[in-house]
Amino acid sequence: MATATQAGADGWTSRTAFILAAIGAAVGLGNVWRFPTLAGENGGGAFVVFYIGCVILIGLPLVLSEILIGRHGRSDAMHSVEKVASDSGVSRGWGLFGGTGILAAFLIMTFYSVVAGWVIYYIGVMGWDFVAAFFSGAPFAGALAAENPDQISSRMTDLFANWPLLLVLHAMFMVATIWIVARGVQSGIEKAATYLMPAFFVLLILITIYGAFTGNFAEAVAFMFNPDFSKLTASAMNQALGQALFSMSLASAALITYGAYVSRETKLAPTAVMIAAADTGVAIIAGLMIFPIVFAAGLDAAAGPTLVFQSLPIAFHTMPGGALVGFLFFILIFFAALTSSISLLEGVVSWCINKFGMARATAAWGVGGLMFVIGIGCALSLNVWSEFRLLPFIPNFADNNLMDTIDGFTGQVLLPVTALLTSIFVGWRADRQLVMAETGLSGGMFTLWRFLVAWLCPIAVGLILVFGLFPALLA
Ligand code: PHE
Repeated sequence: MATATQAGADGWTSRTAFILAAIGAAVGLGNVWRFPTLAGENGGGAFVVFYIGCVILIGLPLVLSEILIGRHGRSDAMHSVEKVASDSGVSRGWGLFGGTGILAAFLIMTFYSVVAGWVIYYIGVMGWDFVAAFFSGAPFAGALAAENPDQISSRMTDLFANWPLLLVLHAMFMVATIWIVARGVQSGIEKAATYLMPAFFVLLILITIYGAFTGNFAEAVAFMFNPDFSKLTASAMNQALGQALFSMSLASAALITYGAYVSRETKLAPTAVMIAAADTGVAIIAGLMIFPIVFAAGLDAAAGPTLVFQSLPIAFHTMPGGALVGFLFFILIFFAALTSSISLLEGVVSWCINKFGMARATAAWGVGGLMFVIGIGCALSLNVWSEFRLLPFIPNFADNNLMDTIDGFTGQVLLPVTALLTSIFVGWRADRQLVMAETGLSGGMFTLWRFLVAWLCPIAVGLILVFGLFPALLA
C-alpha cells in the first residue's frame, strides 16, 4: 500500500525543525567517534583536507539529491524513488536503491546501538564518579581519581568481556530510540531534535573551549590542519570517501525519508548546504575538542576505535575538572548518537508503514526489536562470539567478527552501491525539469550541481566500491 504521503498529516512544523532533525541525523557517532579515529589513524591534516573535498564535491550534491527525491516522492525512501521515476517516465525498478538504502539503515543500526551502549556505560561511570567527587568536596577533581591509568583503560576491556551488561546497554539505547520514533514525526522526532541538538551544540562549544585552555590546542591544530600529503594513502582516501557518506547519513534512507516531511515552500539548496556544513563543522570541532586533550596527556592520536573510550578517560584523569567534563563529554556523544539512531529507525519504519499498512508504534517496536536481536550478535562479537566468521570465504571479511562484517559490508558495499545508483538516477534518468524545480537551482549553479551528480559522484563512489572490495588494488 503506497500511500501518497504520511508527510501531509505529520510533517515538520517549520524549516528550522527540519534542519535540526536533519543535522541531528547527520551528526552522530560518525562525527564524534569515527572521524577523530580515522583522522588520527591516517595522520591528520592531509586526511582532513581530502575529507573536506569529498564533502563539498560529492557529499553535498548527494545531500541535495536525496532531499529532493524525498520531497517530490513524499513517502519512504523506496516509494519516493519510485514516484520520481514514474514521474520521469523511467522504470520504477529504480526504487531498488531506495530499498538498499533502507537495508543499509537497518544494518547500521544493529551495531550503532551497541556502540551507543558503550557511551551509556561511560555516562554511568563518569557520572557516578563526578557525583562522588562532588560530595567529597572535590567537584573539580580529575576523572576517576582513585584509579590508575591501567585500571581506567581496563574498564573498556572489562566492559567488552561483560556480555550481559553490553546487552542491557544495547537494549536501553534501542528502547529510547523506538520510544521516540513511535511517537511520530512531530511529537517524537522533531521534539527530540529541538531539545537535544541545541544542548549538543552548547556542550560541544564548552568542552572545546575547555580543551583549548587546559589541553595542547596548538599541537592539535597543527595535527589537524598541516597536511602531509605523503600520508594520504589510497586506503586513506577510500576511507575518507566512505566516511563522508556515512557521516552525512547518505545512501541510507534517512535524508530521503526526512525530505518527505519538508514543506513545498522550503528552499532545498541552501538547506542542503547547511546540513553538510554543520555536519563537517561538527566533525572538525570534535577533532579540535578531542586532540588537545589527548595530546596534553601525551597519548597517541592513532589509538583507533578506542581513542574516545579508552584514551580520553585517561586524559580526563589528569585534567582539572576532568570528572565533570568527562561526564558531560559522554552525554554529548549520547545526544548525537540518539538523534542519528532515530533517523536510522525512521527510514525503515516509514517503509513498513507504507508497505504493510502497519501502525507507526507497531512498526517501530517490530523493526527496532529485530534490529536489537541482530545487534545481540554484534555485542557478542566482542566476547563469546569473537571467533565467529559470517563470510569466511570473502577475503575482505574473512577475519572479521560479525560486528565488523556488518560495519564493513554496509560501509564498503551497501552505501557505495546505493550512492552510485542515486547519482546515476538523479544525474541521468530523473526528469530535468522535475529536478530543477525541486532544487530551486537555475543557470550555472544547476549545471554545476548536475555535473557533480552525473559525473564526479558516480566515478568517485565507483572507486570506493572497487577499492573497498579489492583492497589489493591499492597496495
Ligand atoms: N550520520 C550518522 C553519524 O554520523 C550515522 C547515520 C548513518 C545516520 C546513516 C543515519 C543514516 O553517526
